Amino acid sequence: MSNHDEEHVSPSTLQPMVIILGLILVATVVVSLLLAKPAGEDPVPVVANVEDNIKPIATVEVAAASVAHVDKSGEEVVKAVCAMCHAAGLMNAPKIGDKTQWGPRIAQGYETLVQHAQAGIRTMPARGGNPDLSDAEIAGAVANMANQAGANFDPAKLAKK
Ligand code: HEC
Repeated sequence: MSNHDEEHVSPSTLQPMVIILGLILVATVVVSLLLAKPAGEDPVPVVANVEDNIKPIATVEVAAASVAHVDKSGEEVVKAVCAMCHAAGLMNAPKIGDKTQWGPRIAQGYETLVQHAQAGIRTMPARGGNPDLSDAEIAGAVANMANQAGANFDPAKLAKK
């Protein structure tokens, strides 16, 4: 009991005070470190064009070739590529389903039309401007459009030739 009277600050109040003082000290050190950052310090050099630097190692060209190409149907190709011009008759492209416009074209024969669609003819771009299309996809697309204008082209027969 006498011990209690001799102490000016009891341990129960001293401990929290030490913790608070410690926190203030830490905060002060952090703030002064942040403020003390030299103004003229050189910025960390930015490594520009990382991609260029790693290019010779990172370029892999086999990927595109090794991915198996799955042919889309003639209808899918027409919708995705050919319809862009042939739906509305852009640049006088023969309109899909227009027998008057397709008649003379169809008369040239399936094989010739397919060749023209693959190689391009006049304002018609080769493969409709999409070099990724396979020969079979072009043949299917030609049959799809021509058949909607009265032809009876069969891509399977063309492929067997
Ligand atoms: C950028 C527009 C455009 C796209 C896309 C396009 N065509 Fe054409 N196509 C034309 C035009 C224009 C003509 C008419 C060319 C001419 O006879 O002067 C044409 C003509 C044709 C003809 C008739 C060729 C002939 O000998 O009379 C075929 C067949 C044809 N296109 C197939 C296709 C197929 C198949 C696709 C899709 C893979 C396609 N076209 C995509 C513009 C296009």
